[in-house]
Amino acid sequence: MLARDWYYNERRRIGLDSAVASIYDRHDDSDLRARGALTMLGVRAGWRVADIGCGNGVLACEAALMGAEVDAIDISPAMLALAEVYARDRKASIRTQSAGLLSFAYDANSYDLIVSEFTLHHLPDFWKAVALSRIYGALKHGANFYLRDIVFVSMPDGSERDVEQWADFNIKNHGFERASVVTHMRDEYSTFGWVIERMLTEAGFTLVSADYHAPLHGTYLLRKPKSGEQA
Ligand SMILES: C[S@@+](CC[C@H](N)C(=O)[O-])C[C@H]1O[C@@H](n2cnc3c(N)ncnc32)[C@H](O)[C@@H]1O
Repeated sequence: MLARDWYYNERRRIGLDSAVASIYDRHDDSDLRARGALTMLGVRAGWRVADIGCGNGVLACEAALMGAEVDAIDISPAMLALAEVYARDRKASIRTQSAGLLSFAYDANSYDLIVSEFTLHHLPDFWKAVALSRIYGALKHGANFYLRDIVFVSMPDGSERDVEQWADFNIKNHGFERASVVTHMRDEYSTFGWVIERMLTEAGFTLVSADYHAPLHGTYLLRKPKSGEQA
C-alpha cells in the first residue's frame, strides 16, 4: 500500500512542525501527567509500548523509565531530535522511528500499549481511519490504545464559541501564540468526537471510555478485543 501513488504524504507539513518544535522544548508538569496516565494504563516492565506523534518524547521517556521497551515515533525529525536530547537528560532508553501514523513499521499483534496524543488531527478523516486500522493491527489482542486529540464536541453552530474558548485556554495555560491556534483551525483536520468514536469502533476497537473535557479535548481508551471475543 505504501508504494501507491495516491497514498497520503504525511511529510508535507514537516516544515511547519519543525517551526513549532521550539514550543515543545519547555519545562512543565507534562512528565507528571504522562506518568499518571501510564500508571492508569497499567504499564509494566517488559511491555512493548509505542508513542505515535511522540513530539518531545516526554511520555515515551516516562514509559521507558517504568521499564517498558518504547518506540518513540514521529514524522518530524526536529521533534525526534528533541526527544533524543530529552531521553539523554532523563537517562531513558527509547528507540526513535522517523515515520508517521500511516507509515510506522510494525509486526502484527506486537504492542502491549499504543499511545497517540494530539497527533491524529494531522490527517484528513479517511486517513485517520487508515491510521486507526494500522494501530489496531499492531496491538496485541486484549491490549489498549490510548488516544487524546483536539476534537469538536458541539455541532458547527456552537463551534465558534468553543474555538474561541479553546484559543483562550491554550494561550493562557500553555503559552501558545494565537497564530498557532489559528493555524490548527485553518489548516489541520480536527473532526467531531462522534466521528472519531465511529471510526474507532469500525476499526474493531471496543470503546472503553470517551471523555470530553477542556475546550475541544477528547480522551479515548480503547481495547483490541481478545482473540475470539466480539468488539
Ligand atoms: C501537537 S504535537 C503533540 C506531541 C506530543 N504527543 C504531545 O502531546 O505533546 C503533534 C506531533 O505529531 C507529529 N506528527 C504530525 N503528523 C504526524 C503523522 N502523520 N504521524 C506521526 N506524527 C505526526 C508532529 O511532528 C508533532 O510532534
